[in-house]
Amino acid sequence: MKKDVLMIESESYWLKTGHRTHYPKLEEDLETEVAVVGAGIAGILSAWQLVKQGKQVTLFERFRILNGTTGNTTAKLSAQHGLNYAKLIERYGTETARLYYEANMLGINQIKAIAKELNLENFVEDETVYVFTTDPAKVPSFVKEKEAYDKLGIDGDLLKETPLGFKIESAISMNKQGILHPVEFLNGVLAALSKKGMRVYEQTLINDMKQEDDKSLVLKSDNGHSVKCKYVVFATHYPLIEVDHHYDYGVWARTTQAMAFKTDKKLFNGAHIAYDTPSITLRTMEYFGDHYLLIGGQSHVTGDGFSDEERYEKIDELAHKYFNVGKPVYKWLTHDLMTKDHVPFMGRLYPQFPNVYTITGLNAWGLANSSAGAVMIADMIMGRQSPYTKMYDPFREIPEIPSDAEKEKSSSEVSKVADSAVENLERDKQTIIMHDRKRVGVYKDKNGKVYYFDLACTHLGCDLGLNDGDKTWDCPCHGSRFDKFGRVIYGPAIKNLNEVKLS
Ligand SMILES: Cc1cc2nc3c(=O)[nH]c(=O)nc-3n(C[C@H](O)[C@H](O)[C@H](O)COP(=O)(O)OP(=O)(O)OC[C@H]3O[C@@H](n4cnc5c(N)ncnc54)[C@H](O)[C@@H]3O)c2cc1C
Ligand code: FES
Repeated sequence: MKKDVLMIESESYWLKTGHRTHYPKLEEDLETEVAVVGAGIAGILSAWQLVKQGKQVTLFERFRILNGTTGNTTAKLSAQHGLNYAKLIERYGTETARLYYEANMLGINQIKAIAKELNLENFVEDETVYVFTTDPAKVPSFVKEKEAYDKLGIDGDLLKETPLGFKIESAISMNKQGILHPVEFLNGVLAALSKKGMRVYEQTLINDMKQEDDKSLVLKSDNGHSVKCKYVVFATHYPLIEVDHHYDYGVWARTTQAMAFKTDKKLFNGAHIAYDTPSITLRTMEYFGDHYLLIGGQSHVTGDGFSDEERYEKIDELAHKYFNVGKPVYKWLTHDLMTKDHVPFMGRLYPQFPNVYTITGLNAWGLANSSAGAVMIADMIMGRQSPYTKMYDPFREIPEIPSDAEKEKSSSEVSKVADSAVENLERDKQTIIMHDRKRVGVYKDKNGKVYYFDLACTHLGCDLGLNDGDKTWDCPCHGSRFDKFGRVIYGPAIKNLNEVKLS
């Protein structure tokens, strides 16, 4: 019999419990001073900061607002990104490490200030965050990280126990951080921006951009409308415009799974992440008096071909190992884009487009980082100096360091490619077969009809992997996802998968 976790449909707790306003599709040509493309946290907060500066902003979203990574996050508002500060000091020196902390604290404090201004404080709470290990061999890294905190003046402690209540070997806390309900908070921010007259368009894919001689810009939507503007912010997770493979080579996609369990009370204080392999991430949630445990983990290169069903089962087992919980209520997964040095790419998209900006490569810590990026980009557009431009510059020199992507990618190369015969495939299941030395995706629908897909991603051609946990085809390179029928459900890909006929 199937385990409980496999019986529930994938659905994010935030998207299910949060309210979202509907916005129209773009049905005309228009002009605006700034076009922000992408309505996740990066786009909405960029719009907020620019409207605050008196700019006329229009926001475009390909699907529905907040449907992307932001609607599927674990929503910790934190400047503690694993054991990142000792590494930042080693790689870039004390000053850059200090700037990274300052930028993230600025991002957090901006979000808290916006929540206060808009009366959304119910959805953004102060919280202490913790990184911990259950592995004695990792303890020296925690001591080193605490030395980095002391050097940088970071408010946190080295601990032997945490509010989680189970045995750990070491932990570091960071104070004055937060947790939020991203969908309720950002929907509230958008509502306030709309009241100020900002236009928002959903179901509007921006699929092209041209720069005029005077450096002004014209965007094109998928239904043929044009948007003339002076500035563009691509907050599209992966940027739309790729000139010389800079972003193709610079970022890669990593997926993490999450589950929520209803509990009869708040199980613990704080938001926690393990610096262990495999890692887990933990926080609690309360919504209108109902309490939940959120537990996530099993991070892996997107579309690596291993079973996502098994990964959900492993998270379920961990939840039951550490806590007295019943059946899971929600399960979901999403990916973020990673950079080699774990510092985002934010700033000018390409030097040859002086008025085009991006926020990408948020390394699974995008909430505080993108909030800082929004402030920085507003400063850049207003012609002001920002202390953070060099650190976040997408074209910075990255010192040669072994990349996690390479490590994880090589493990995906040995992952199994399902090769079972199509005849034996159960209904409503997918598999991958080899045909003429090509990988072909197979889906047998509920009536027994079989569909075959070319598994080359329609973005830049990477091999797609099967995600059996969510019944999708996922791309390891930049995170495009296609449903079981091959329809694109997450970009940067624009085209659906090509169906193939087998001879
Ligand atoms: C499982 C998981 C847990 C995480 N937990 C945390 C956490 O606890 N704390 C933290 O700080 N970070 C966390 N992160 C990272 C954080 O959630 C992301 O960095 C952040 O949400 C990314 O926001 P975004 O706005 O860049 O992208 P998205 O939310 O994906 O928004 C991009 C939007 O752009 C739209 N779009 C794309 N292309 C186009 C186009 N051409 N035209 C129009 N629209 C377009 C998309 O449809 C999408 O809605 C987590 C990430 C993962 C994967
Ligand atoms: S090749 Fe870029 S998302 Fe697949």
